[in-house]
Amino acid sequence: MSNQPHSRHDNGPALFQPLGLRDLTVRNRVWMPPMCMYSVESRDGKPTPFHYQHYVSRGLGGFGMIIAEATAVSPEGRISPLDVGLWDDDQIDAWRWIVDDVRRSGAAFGIQLNHAGRKASSQAPDRGHETGSVPPEEGGWQTVAPSPIAFGSYERPRELSVDGIHVVVAQFRDAAARAVRAGFQMIQIHAAHGYLLSQFLDPLSNQRTDEYGGSLENRMRLLIEVVDAVRAVIPEGMPLSVRISATDWAEHGWGLAETTVTAATLKEHGVDLIDVSTGGIVDDVTIPVAPNYQVPFAKHIHRKVGIPVTAVGLITKPKQAEHIVASDKADAVEIGRASLRNPYWPLYAARKLGLRRAAIAYPTQYLRGAVAD
Ligand SMILES: Cc1cc2nc3c(=O)[nH]c(=O)nc-3n(C[C@H](O)[C@H](O)[C@H](O)COP(=O)(O)O)c2cc1C
Repeated sequence: MSNQPHSRHDNGPALFQPLGLRDLTVRNRVWMPPMCMYSVESRDGKPTPFHYQHYVSRGLGGFGMIIAEATAVSPEGRISPLDVGLWDDDQIDAWRWIVDDVRRSGAAFGIQLNHAGRKASSQAPDRGHETGSVPPEEGGWQTVAPSPIAFGSYERPRELSVDGIHVVVAQFRDAAARAVRAGFQMIQIHAAHGYLLSQFLDPLSNQRTDEYGGSLENRMRLLIEVVDAVRAVIPEGMPLSVRISATDWAEHGWGLAETTVTAATLKEHGVDLIDVSTGGIVDDVTIPVAPNYQVPFAKHIHRKVGIPVTAVGLITKPKQAEHIVASDKADAVEIGRASLRNPYWPLYAARKLGLRRAAIAYPTQYLRGAVAD
């Protein structure tokens, strides 16, 4: 007889086992990652009825955790003029009705807080524009960054002063406090994809010579200050996540070794989950995009640091997702573009993986549409 503890698979697919993070129990391990919708109507950072439909339908679709899109901590921190935000108390109510009904659907609702740094003031995609900076006459603004180095063809950013850095820390803190008031259940700090916190981490974008540049410890300083400030204003029982790029895919840039050290430090500072992504810092690299291409990074951080992780990136099939979680490469998977194609992806995956009808989180109103056992 085996003396191994019962594995979570004894109760069916690993993908549909609950996951506990501090006081939060997430109903399963199929999550929706943050995805910008660039759909604010009045450039006021307030989510709209579109956002309500978008998020609530994924809640009804069975996702365990939904992480709301990159939400700006300040107007200058928006990726585009059409981004959502939480830089003002006025924005709290615009989120609250969405949060209430996502939670009512049974999903947990987190939010990603972001400052876009040198990638701010850019054109929202799919609005008939090329990518690049928004000109001032169309409402663009001066961007900031660790160093005055432009991203690709974007406008050159202004170097943040140390006082300016302290303001950014306070903005993340205040936005997190507002997210708590709106009812969100997890905060995710966006330190990936070449946005401001990622720009500080990466030596290709951070060439400062003060205490925020140079050594890894210095480049990490802003992120850690943000984590400490956020952790101090959110409830003890609320999980805190950081999304990080495990590599920038560039030579002499940011890589897995530095990410691992950073993840270990984040764990010491009360971070509960690392959302492992890659890329976004430089625009002239080739990324070997293929199914599961970011999973090995997630697995590495999970094993080396001993911290819960999510894996993301071209995970589109139920058995593929199940294998990642069942083989303990990640604690949960995130389904991005496939969830834009099918908001009911988790219900579909549950059925595909053999869950009986009674065990699937169908909304009661939809039960007559459920496939019979
Ligand atoms: C429309 C769209 C918007 C996105 N916006 C964000 C975002 O706000 N924050 C973020 O961290 N990643 C963002 N991403 C990246 C996704 O979270 C995800 O990591 C990526 O799409 C890879 O997963 P997938 O292959 O399942 O789509 C976005 C992706 C898409 C397609």
